[in-house]
Amino acid sequence: MAKSNIEGLRTSFTRDEYTSPEIFALEMSHIYEQRWCYVGRSDQLVHIGDRLVADVGTESIVAVRNRDGELRAYFNVCQHRGSQLCDSSGSGHGAAITCPYHSWSYSLDGKLVGAIHHDKESFNRDGIALSPVSIDEWQGLLFVNLDTKAEPLIDWLGSLYSKPRDFEKFEIGSLKSVHTSVDEVRANWKVLVENYSECLHCSVVHPELCETVPVYKTGKTTQDERSDWGASLAKGKTAISFAQDENLPLLASMDDYSVFGAYVYPNMLIDVMPTCVAVSTYIPRSATHTTVVTDYLFPAEVATNPPVDLKPTLDFNEMVNQQDFAVSERVQRGVASKAFGQAYHTEMEKYAQRFVKQYRQDTKTN
Ligand code: FES
Ligand SMILES: [Fe+2]
Repeated sequence: MAKSNIEGLRTSFTRDEYTSPEIFALEMSHIYEQRWCYVGRSDQLVHIGDRLVADVGTESIVAVRNRDGELRAYFNVCQHRGSQLCDSSGSGHGAAITCPYHSWSYSLDGKLVGAIHHDKESFNRDGIALSPVSIDEWQGLLFVNLDTKAEPLIDWLGSLYSKPRDFEKFEIGSLKSVHTSVDEVRANWKVLVENYSECLHCSVVHPELCETVPVYKTGKTTQDERSDWGASLAKGKTAISFAQDENLPLLASMDDYSVFGAYVYPNMLIDVMPTCVAVSTYIPRSATHTTVVTDYLFPAEVATNPPVDLKPTLDFNEMVNQQDFAVSERVQRGVASKAFGQAYHTEMEKYAQRFVKQYRQDTKTN
């Protein structure tokens, strides 16, 4: 994070860094293809043969649960003539991964085990295998790293400035997904990260949320007097929801009505609320387009209890999301202008500054 030539401000990203396809490609190779990226939940890979397909940087990845019950992940590409193996998103199941082109099939450990019209002796199958990717799990959340020499996931999470490991007390892995929303946002992924990293916009953009979490009205994301980076709900409020009388159980370790949020560099947000957790992921498509997937997780007894009305909670959070997406798209239109050169951060945007610092280290730009 460089000091700007304007007293009291730090420089953020330039017009090119928000719009250039070349810089976008560099970000994918230096960040998304070298850092641990969130791809889904481990309850999507419960049984042997379950599979999950995810886009990471410019690559497609397939993750599976193998016959020993372990997680494995591979580049989603056949070693015969390069067909993509599994469809580009979603989950599925199979005892083997079979290419839809000429039916070469691979074991869940990635080895070539079958090729139709060829008997075993016709060519040497030893050494033909899917290209592996690192995969690991934390709190029921799955992360992959295309760099197989990467540091362990747990070390990486422990090193992040946003301290996601502090969230282990909420036992996110015990929660179940009840709803997933997918939004196509016409904004650079960094615009979304910067927006998430500050609350200067909250009083203007999120009036309903500010009524529920009063500190947000002040432009701060957390309360100075709290050491746990939390923010208390207003008196009488018990949930981030249009309804305050839902009688939903509180999450583990939620001994008062508070919210906590963490950006997990580069592609994930975790928002812990009194009654649920929202896990969002940014999937960058181009310099000007990002897919945002948000999963809403609730305690298992709530997820399987249809009489509990979750709509007020889901609708409230979706409203806040849409407010953020609208301002992010507005920013994207602005930063494409000839009149825009360089973004700035004030002292109150310190977490956005930390993001810029990590980005500059990874992309070796300064
Ligand atoms: S490309 Fe996959 S079997 Fe031919
Ligand atoms: Fe916001």
